[in-house]
Amino acid sequence: MKNYINLSDIEDLKALIHDARGMKSNPSEEKPGKGKTLGMLFFNPSLRTRLSTEKAARLLGMEVMVMNADKDGWALEFEDAAIMNSDKAEHIKEAAAVLSQYCDIIAVRAFPGLKDREQDETELVMNSFKKYATIPVVNLESATGHPLQALTDGITIQELSEKSRPKVVLTWAPHPNALPHSVANSFTEMMQQIDVDFVITNPEGYDLDPKIVRDIRVEHDQKKAFKDADFVYVKNWSSYEKYGQVLEVEENWTVDQAKLKNTNNAKVMHCLPVRRNVVIADDILDSDNSIVIQQANNRTYAAQAVLKKLLECSK
Ligand code: CP
Repeated sequence: MKNYINLSDIEDLKALIHDARGMKSNPSEEKPGKGKTLGMLFFNPSLRTRLSTEKAARLLGMEVMVMNADKDGWALEFEDAAIMNSDKAEHIKEAAAVLSQYCDIIAVRAFPGLKDREQDETELVMNSFKKYATIPVVNLESATGHPLQALTDGITIQELSEKSRPKVVLTWAPHPNALPHSVANSFTEMMQQIDVDFVITNPEGYDLDPKIVRDIRVEHDQKKAFKDADFVYVKNWSSYEKYGQVLEVEENWTVDQAKLKNTNNAKVMHCLPVRRNVVIADDILDSDNSIVIQQANNRTYAAQAVLKKLLECSK
């Protein structure tokens, strides 16, 4: 594995999940990251990704440097051959090359603008770091994907499933703001790679990118989709069809205990942060059905397995 930008960068998912679960049950004294440095650049806020990835790097013996690149760094120019006589002070070519001198792995978070679908799908920020850095690049959530979250989610489902092939439902839920598709996209890709009976449910107008959904069943009736579910993964995303818009939805899509009656006492997941009583009701988040804290804990082991693999592969 040279970079971790997409789930497709994983060469052997089964082995990576096995490594992550092994790290959780037997924290190793081995420090393969000794003398190595992880540099993390955040163009957007974070709690879990920032702290779990830092913890993971330290568990491997790495040094960590973190920068709020949106506030503390020079505004970056990403266009080739740009005449930089406006607001951008530094080109990605120099920035990525310099970071490659200071660090052994760079990790970057850069959300989409949600205004121009084609522009967001170019993944300009992540792909520019990949192009101009000479060290591995890790995606801490980009315009269209959140592969560290998806690896965590795969680990969590395998860890907590009581069946060899559980039914997993990804459900849209309301949110006042326009949110990216990244988590839902990467979760969908992950569910296509592990042995689950997977269904996506969302209101009309909220179907995800058909290139990602492919032949997965999409059910616009949430109650029907929830029937016999073992895991319910709750997430909001803005419209893909009317790109970046928050559409009017008449029915109530907030997930609460009443909706779980139709399920197999489903375990409820969310990547967090979650808006209580808008996305998921208190009566779930404060109950044993919620596994959001166990899920967040697994962020550390997913990141640890990825960083360890990148260190091994860049030797
Ligand atoms: N789930 C997740 O990525 O959380 P943060 O935005 O807090 O990093």
